[in-house]
Amino acid sequence: MLYSETIKVTKTGTSKLKKLDFENIPLGRTFTDHMFICDYHDGTWNNPRVQPLEAIPTHPAAMALHYGQAIFEGMKATITDQNIPMLFRPDKNAARLNESARRMGMPDFPEDLFVEALKTLVEVEHKWIPPQEGSALYLRPFMYADEPFIGMRAATSFKFIVIASPAGPFFSKRIKLFAEKQYIRAATGGTGEAKAAGNYAAAIRPTEIAKGKGYDQVLWLDAVEHKYIQEVGTMNIFFKIDGKFITPKLDGSVLHGITRMSVIELLKHKGYEVTERLIALDEIAEASENGTLEEAFGTGTAVGIAYIQEIGTEKGTIYVSDESPVGLEINNTLSAIKTGKQKDIFNWMVKVE
Ligand code: COI
Repeated sequence: MLYSETIKVTKTGTSKLKKLDFENIPLGRTFTDHMFICDYHDGTWNNPRVQPLEAIPTHPAAMALHYGQAIFEGMKATITDQNIPMLFRPDKNAARLNESARRMGMPDFPEDLFVEALKTLVEVEHKWIPPQEGSALYLRPFMYADEPFIGMRAATSFKFIVIASPAGPFFSKRIKLFAEKQYIRAATGGTGEAKAAGNYAAAIRPTEIAKGKGYDQVLWLDAVEHKYIQEVGTMNIFFKIDGKFITPKLDGSVLHGITRMSVIELLKHKGYEVTERLIALDEIAEASENGTLEEAFGTGTAVGIAYIQEIGTEKGTIYVSDESPVGLEINNTLSAIKTGKQKDIFNWMVKVE
């Protein structure tokens, strides 16, 4: 048996909610009153609980701090006009967390408990869900090795935690990318498709350098030839060329984005052809030059859809577009489905009740 107990809920007597300005909520700065937490020892997950959010005592030898056994997920809870909190495809996050866990030598977290944990936390925190279009309660499930040990091996004790942070819309302006050839994000056989903390650590310095040059995000290229496009910033990427969409295929170095998967389904449903394949940066430059590059956008949970203006490369700037009509339409459709304004024909939404 992986776990046996039901989730125990202990509520705080002092909520911080009244201090929240719903009109001004940058992602990741404000946290709700509670968190979900569960401990792994001796091969089982124990004591699943929702409790007041607080700092967690950490042993300085905790293995996550030294060897980076740490993974996470990104999700959003939204609320309908009828005041029903909803989760977007939580089963997909539960499955992806476990794929990341396997790659990183960490234990699976029971997928039904994952969904139950999210539902319980969101139910307790539903008043924190911003109702405005494009806003949401960002949920951050994560797992890390808390065993104090200096030797190099898989840890034997872990914590799985979910925290929640209300968030307004992410990028409001069109973004400029820098095609990075010196640094890489992921190589085949590495951890690129896992949502591992270390992938993000390795991306921080190159992103700072790109920002210093006036760009918003890094366009990540393959590790061998620095020729093929993998991702953008912390997002998957789509291009529309001559009426058809292309996106990099999942070759082991690309994150299996849940927004990516949903955008592919939506585009196909709207009648577009979508191909997952290798995409060379040169091919995008050529499409820009011959006028067939119509639009490009990044997709991710935190960001939603980020519209791309241009890509800086060592050979010059690839102009993409000043407008992204299909990207915008997809973004609006996703928001409408998430807030119950449009019928959820794909059965993506899970009610918290
Ligand atoms: C997400 O889109 O949920 C992510 O995990 C990206 C994060 C760096 C905000």
